[in-house]
Amino acid sequence: MRIVMIGSGYVGLVSGACFADFGHHVTCVDKSEAKIVALEAGEVPIFEPGLDAIIQQNRSAGRLDFSTNLDPSVGDADVVFIAVGTPSRRGDGHADLSYVYAAAREIAAAVQGFTVVVTKSTVPVGTGDEIERIFREEFPDKDIAVVSNPEFLREGAAITDFKRPDRIVIGTEDGRAIEVMREVYRPLYLNEAPLYFCERRTSELIKYAANAFLAMKITFINEIADLSEKIGADVQKVAKGIGMDKRIGDKFLHAGPGYGGSCFPKDTLALVKTAQDFDSPVRLIETTVAINDNRKRAMGRKVIAACDGDVRGKKIALLGLTFKPNTDDMRDAPSITIVQALLDGGASVHAYDPEGMDAAKAVLGAVTYGKDPYEIAANADAVVIVTEWEEFRALDFTRLKSLMKAPVMVDLRNIYSLSDVVKYGFEYFAVGRKSQKQ
Ligand SMILES: NC(=O)c1ccc[n+]([C@@H]2O[C@H](COP(=O)([O-])OP(=O)(O)OC[C@H]3O[C@@H](n4cnc5c(N)ncnc54)[C@H](O)[C@@H]3O)[C@@H](O)[C@H]2O)c1
Repeated sequence: MRIVMIGSGYVGLVSGACFADFGHHVTCVDKSEAKIVALEAGEVPIFEPGLDAIIQQNRSAGRLDFSTNLDPSVGDADVVFIAVGTPSRRGDGHADLSYVYAAAREIAAAVQGFTVVVTKSTVPVGTGDEIERIFREEFPDKDIAVVSNPEFLREGAAITDFKRPDRIVIGTEDGRAIEVMREVYRPLYLNEAPLYFCERRTSELIKYAANAFLAMKITFINEIADLSEKIGADVQKVAKGIGMDKRIGDKFLHAGPGYGGSCFPKDTLALVKTAQDFDSPVRLIETTVAINDNRKRAMGRKVIAACDGDVRGKKIALLGLTFKPNTDDMRDAPSITIVQALLDGGASVHAYDPEGMDAAKAVLGAVTYGKDPYEIAANADAVVIVTEWEEFRALDFTRLKSLMKAPVMVDLRNIYSLSDVVKYGFEYFAVGRKSQKQ
């Protein structure tokens, strides 16, 4: 099959590279000249484990190429995926679909012969209908089927998620499109990944409902964490205890500083807005959004409380900035709000992140960056674990304490336990578990 991927970001690049790895011929298109130039020079513009090797192999095999221009490749394509961004629209929180519709028009102008156009971007219910209307009214001579195929990969584990998905959701009732989509995903189907066909609007809603449910689950355990702290319970044990129940499951039950990233914040908000427009409010998700927004700032207050209620003139060292480990993505990371709360309190904020510092520099205020945890911990009044990168899981506490001004650790990801840390003389503050001051 000949596939064109419009948008070569976290989703487009991973999907394009993996489709090429299945044996399809793929052209990844992006408007960003810098991205395409980098890709053509053999550089991968994002950090995603394993992606560089797959790109390299498939470029060498002649199955993967890159372009800023969709024109020649779309004309030859069987399938064109739209994987452009759908950020929150400024002002009202609806998904901004301007990139999607612009891409759809460019595709339609270049299409020749029957072509399947697939939205892989996360788009609100009805977007496929609108794209179809645009095609029908503005490009009446073109033979195009519009399909929804939302993506469920997680950054940091994107290759595995794409190649071993729990399911592939395909929203279309067009017989020709169904055959083409079966062929596109045939290599995965042979691995027994279920292809789940449904109506297009249902498929669009599945993506939002899935993300909203997961965001709600995280928010639920975060509130149980707050309660655990007050009543002297251990939220991790509560999570394990409820997670062993198969009806609940143990995933997405890690208490922490609130969800962030490129999907949950914008997708929960967009679902709330869509539901309000249809006069069918999703109050659970409205509440989830509000609780999560408050939580990020509350985590800043938690750090301040650990520093005896005052961080003015104090040095705070943050370990991790990205919204989760194994990515360089800083979009809506809780660290952004935490840093702001600390700066507002008069702290001097120092930070280290294994992959996210370049992206962080573009979104964070006056932060000083270091090359490892120990450099930023020198003379610090507190160390705060914000993102649970592997390299923070075995810190040398003796060295850390000897460098710090005050041995205070705030562990917003619960990667340590009280007994791990207090024996080295640290004051330790976790989320939803017992904390200890010396
Ligand atoms: N990032 C994730 O983990 C994830 C997971 C599942 C779904 N999604 C969804 O996938 C979509 C893409 O997300 P992302 O994180 O890959 O975004 P991204 O910002 O990393 O990438 C989008 C890319 O599209 C390019 N682009 C925009 N308009 C274009 C056009 N007309 N032609 C060519 N290129 C164009 C941009 O330059 C950018 O490189 C979003 O709707 C998102 O919600 C993301």
